Amino acid sequence: MPDTVNICLIAARGRNNVIGNEGDLPWRLKGDLGFFKTATMGCPILMGRKTWESLPFRPLKGRDNIVMTRDWTYDAPGARVYSSFPAAINAARAIATRQGAPNVFVIGGAAIYNLALPYADTIFMTEVDAAPEGDVFFPELGADSWRSETLESHAAGEGNDHDFSIVRMDRVSVHSK
Ligand SMILES: NC(=O)c1ccc[n+]([C@@H]2O[C@H](COP(=O)([O-])OP(=O)(O)OC[C@H]3O[C@@H](n4cnc5c(N)ncnc54)[C@H](OP(=O)(O)O)[C@@H]3O)[C@@H](O)[C@H]2O)c1
Repeated sequence: MPDTVNICLIAARGRNNVIGNEGDLPWRLKGDLGFFKTATMGCPILMGRKTWESLPFRPLKGRDNIVMTRDWTYDAPGARVYSSFPAAINAARAIATRQGAPNVFVIGGAAIYNLALPYADTIFMTEVDAAPEGDVFFPELGADSWRSETLESHAAGEGNDHDFSIVRMDRVSVHSK
């Protein structure tokens, strides 16, 4: 059967590749949160346990929340819990197929982006014009090539700490998975 569900990573990174600091985002970007909500709504979202615990409201509504942890006893009310990445991504694909959703979104953090990158068809990357201190980084994209298109550009102000652009990157080369 053809695999018609796209695996998308959605992330925001600084010029220095920083995506997080001390369990939180290193910036406040209202415009980016709005894009994230619109893009992911109605699609399964897959995240690591630390990102799950960083969410101000759990689960994120209108989306099947899938959480990865090595702790088989971990309780994430309102979410499905998986301990293996292939099992988690297959479950997310099956949910998307059943619901007629075009995409699965991998929403971080760094540990889960690393696991998911070889599977990614598309990356929605918010490029933040800042280089904040941080302790987690988006993985290097490696030798694979991506076709990039800027979807939106926002100026700092009105809830946005920094200028930022939202870039859609579609994989051009063959999957490395
Ligand atoms: N800027 C962005 O776009 C963005 C997006 C999301 C998150 N973030 C930030 O990123 C940071 C969190 O990222 P992180 O990398 O530290 O954590 P994470 O990826 O959210 O979660 C890591 C956890 O996932 C579980 N895990 C990882 N690999 C696994 C595997 N192979 N099998 C099973 N479970 C596995 C483990 O949970 P257990 O320890 O329970 O076993 C691990 O501790 C926060 O600062 C957050 O704010 C930024």
